[in-house]
Amino acid sequence: MSMAAPPSPVLALQARDVRKSFVSGRVRSSVLHDLSLDVYAGELTLISGPSGCGKSTLLAILSGLQPPDAGRVSALGESLDGLDRHALERFRLRHTGFVFQGFNLFPALNALEQVELPLSYLGLGKDEARRRAAAALEEVGLGPRTHLRPAELSGGEKQRVAIARAVAKRPELLFADEPTSALDAANGQTVIDILHTIARTHGTTVLCVSHDPRLVAHADRVLAMEDGRILSDRRLEPAPAPAKENLP
Ligand SMILES: Nc1ncnc2c1ncn2[C@@H]1O[C@H](COP(=O)(O)OP(=O)(O)OP(=O)(O)O)[C@@H](O)[C@H]1O
Ligand SMILES: [Mg+2]
Repeated sequence: MSMAAPPSPVLALQARDVRKSFVSGRVRSSVLHDLSLDVYAGELTLISGPSGCGKSTLLAILSGLQPPDAGRVSALGESLDGLDRHALERFRLRHTGFVFQGFNLFPALNALEQVELPLSYLGLGKDEARRRAAAALEEVGLGPRTHLRPAELSGGEKQRVAIARAVAKRPELLFADEPTSALDAANGQTVIDILHTIARTHGTTVLCVSHDPRLVAHADRVLAMEDGRILSDRRLEPAPAPAKENLP
């Protein structure tokens, strides 16, 4: 299958012949079958597919969280294959951000503290961490709500805090696993718009997996996955400008 590349492609992630299976009891089930994939920098790429087809497993492998059984993975031009656990942890801390379905926020921290926390692991000073955290929350539209704890925020707002936390590090790679599936249509729409804007304005590579068909129209590129394989790869054309006579 040829891969749909943008006009001037810079590779952000590359998987070659990646294989993964899990053993439970005496049964080995194969989840990824010699999967190859290129993800280009600065785009929002969506991987859609039914439950259980291997999407989260693929994200875990591409982000260095899990090793493949066979095949090669490189990220930002660096091969992940030879890296030990410590080096992979450092890679993830410096270069990747994650957003999950369940938000994964700390109940006791307010929005600003949630976003500041990982910045302290990066070694940023307190003032710089606060400044960046406030800017990231502003960017997702939560400027006035930075003092609220998760229990005081709606689902959509919680997910926006999680996005701010992931992007405040300024990662080159942002991984999102079902970021909208706990949200209603309007909040899901806001979240995907924010992810798209992050790719556009910061040049961040956003790789999002979801079985939510509403997201398809908002991605730059859509890969359909089934049974551990990529079945189709299409690039969405930007929406055509409205015809002149339709303008007010
Ligand atoms: N750690 C594990 N141990 C055993 N089996 C696993 C493990 N992780 C995933 N699997 C199996 O691999 C298959 C693919 O799982 P995966 O979570 O990647 O699917 P998915 O496409 O993300 O599904 P969903 O849309 O429901 O999140 C499933 O059958 C799952 O049971
Ligand atoms: Mg999953």
